[in-house]
Amino acid sequence: MMSVVVPPPHFLPSPSLVFLFLVALVCIFIWGRHRPAGNGHRRLPPGSMGWPYVGETLSLYTQDPNTFFSTRQIRYGKIFKSHILGCPCVMISNPEIAKIILVTQSHLFKPTYPISKEMMIGPQAIFFHQGSYHSKLKKLIQSSFLPSTIKGMVYKIEDIVLDLLTSWKHTNTINTLHEMKKYSYEVSIISVFGKEIEVNEIEGLKHMYHCIEKGYNSMPLNLPGTPFNKAMKARKLLNEKLKKMIEKRREIGEYGGGLLGAFLGLNEKDQLNDSQIADNIIGVIFAAHDTTASVLTWLLKYLHDHPHLLYAVKIEQEEIRCERLAKKRGITWDDTRRMPVTTRVIQETLRAASILSFLFREAVEDVEVEGYLIPRGWKVLPLFRTIHYSSDFFPDPDKFDPSRFEIAPRANTFMPFGNGVHSCPGSELAKVEMLILIHHLTASFRQAYNILSPF
Ligand code: HEM
Ligand SMILES: *[C@@H]1O[C@H](CO)[C@@H](O)[C@H](O)[C@H]1NC(C)=O
Repeated sequence: MMSVVVPPPHFLPSPSLVFLFLVALVCIFIWGRHRPAGNGHRRLPPGSMGWPYVGETLSLYTQDPNTFFSTRQIRYGKIFKSHILGCPCVMISNPEIAKIILVTQSHLFKPTYPISKEMMIGPQAIFFHQGSYHSKLKKLIQSSFLPSTIKGMVYKIEDIVLDLLTSWKHTNTINTLHEMKKYSYEVSIISVFGKEIEVNEIEGLKHMYHCIEKGYNSMPLNLPGTPFNKAMKARKLLNEKLKKMIEKRREIGEYGGGLLGAFLGLNEKDQLNDSQIADNIIGVIFAAHDTTASVLTWLLKYLHDHPHLLYAVKIEQEEIRCERLAKKRGITWDDTRRMPVTTRVIQETLRAASILSFLFREAVEDVEVEGYLIPRGWKVLPLFRTIHYSSDFFPDPDKFDPSRFEIAPRANTFMPFGNGVHSCPGSELAKVEMLILIHHLTASFRQAYNILSPF
């Protein structure tokens, strides 16, 4: 595809003068709108803005995304501009610059999401906020997912795993992603509502939630019968359901466990209102569910594809299993701290799969970074996947090699859980969830183990 760029001129398409003239006019029009007045002397990062209006969106969606990013990185460097999905943006594949965006100057780069997604999850959810409301929520959520809190959930997570594996007993094939989603959904439910949650209390929740999930990734077309429309309806029902749960807990004066318990137990002056609570409960389930299930699915695939790694993991888990059986006990938090081989396979999975390839931020004012201007309103995308596949930080990046994590990666180069103020509060839970599943899958459950390995 030809690219239309103002500077540098050698990228201009040549064939027809008239065409050129028209293109130039449109470009001037677009640039006039995007370039803030008075900044003529400051340089924008290098890069191509692609065609007027569509920008480089088509290239991004028709090419292998890895190729899209790497060709541009080679051509323009570690920071370059582009134009995708109707927005001018700056893409960043350098860890130090990504750190500026996410950590040191994070107040100048707010998270942005399409409005349809914000409506679906709920506008009061943590992801969409900055400043004091964000930090108040962040502290609360973090405290509900500290190792000390997760410790008490381990036996419950183990129960969920054992039930799941039992449910596979009479089937020959399973859909891995589907099953992993079931698992991570149930773990997210106990972490949000507490491990004593009664099944009848969350009746119907799963169905509503699935409707929302379907709509979340569909065209945001709010017409009768579309998945988006169904999801918006389910979202409303879910809100009512959560409100009833909140009312009931308040009425009986027992806030219960989980994140909801922490929200309800806030003292008078810090109280959150019902929609703030509901949006964040739904938001956390969302953030916890799909991500963990995707990573687990990749993890199982990588183990299947690398029998020697599966073998090493199995040896490690077998030892813990023998000890457990001798002492007639289930798995504990401390056990999960003694799984270095499995832990490295998980780290390498997080790198190799890089399920969140990049994040979206938006400059809240004109910002100068590395001598380049990032105009107010432009999107900024830290490219995690590109960083995770850079041979400068991860030699032989296409090789799945957990042993690379025997040495800690350089600071700010490994960011599967993000970085800075918005980084993931659920990373410990996600890791424990994966370790417990792998323990039972590879050690104590022969039949399930066959799913992974033919020998
Ligand atoms: C392997 C699984 C997971 C991955 C790869 C992952 C990844 C991430 C990343 C990259 C971010 C940063 C987003 C940003 O900066 O805009 C994030 C944020 C977040 N994650 Fe996770 N996450 C995972 C699991 C979980 C779990 C289990 C929870 C449950 C508590 C969770 C809750 C959250 C929340 C609430 C945020 C928003 C934090 C904020 O905006 O301050 N995530 N996650
Ligand atoms: C809760 O507070 C937010 C922010 O102040 C407000 O926008 C929202 O309408 C409130 N919702 C309810 C149900 O009071």
